[in-house]
Amino acid sequence: MSSMRLQKFLARAGVASRRHAETMIAEGRVAVNGAIVTEMGTTVEPGRDEVAVDGEPVALPDETATFMLHKPAGYVTTMSDPQGRPTAADLMEAERAAYPGLFPVGRLDADTTGLLLFTTDGALGHGLLHPRRHVEKTYLALVEGALNEYDLARLREGVPLDDGPTLPAGARLLRGAEAKEARRLIGTGEGASGQAARHGGKRGRRALEASGTLVEVVLREGRKRQVRRMLEAVGHPVIALHRQSFGPLDLGDLPRGAARRLTSEEVAALKALAS
Ligand code: URA
Repeated sequence: MSSMRLQKFLARAGVASRRHAETMIAEGRVAVNGAIVTEMGTTVEPGRDEVAVDGEPVALPDETATFMLHKPAGYVTTMSDPQGRPTAADLMEAERAAYPGLFPVGRLDADTTGLLLFTTDGALGHGLLHPRRHVEKTYLALVEGALNEYDLARLREGVPLDDGPTLPAGARLLRGAEAKEARRLIGTGEGASGQAARHGGKRGRRALEASGTLVEVVLREGRKRQVRRMLEAVGHPVIALHRQSFGPLDLGDLPRGAARRLTSEEVAALKALAS
């Protein structure tokens, strides 16, 4: 969408008349990309610039938006939960107020942490999940016991599960600096420790965390609890699981529980994969 003056944007978004929008801008109530703007000549590009009034994001009704969320452990991937558990959608409240059509692209288990996409773009969301697209997702897993080359070869070839054999997957052990970085990304706060504590029960999370093996698994499909079931099938149950990347997108250092809007370049890269 081409750029337009800020007061026109606010009027089209239904915030106020153009005249009243000018007053709101002059009063310092309007921010663009996090910075208060008081100049009347300011232009914005819908879909790229984030506009907020009194701290609340606003958007045009026909504007699509895509966000990545760093999902913490303990949140279910649904828009609402009949059992009242915390949901990933709860963490996206401000974004959903501006973009009511946001929905999660696929799901992560309640105990899994990491990159979860939300979009208002149905074609993009469904295209990314389509089994024929084979979008790569990279997971970091802390597992029980010591995985050996034979276990890794089985993961790479495909593992028989009760819903059929898996496609060949990427699987490699993480050692030294890579293992240290993976532990940092999985997190030892309420992320992995929470997962490990629930998993380990009386055995205690420290012993489990200390004894486990770190492995990177790259999937090109997305069945229910797939990484957990694959690792269980080769004899190494998952203690903690984290998704670090989705297609071309890496979670980077986005803090746990935080979301950020994708750039137009990132959205274009996803669209290329989804179509
Ligand atoms: N595989 C799993 O087992 N769990 C997830 O949340 C994602 C992939």
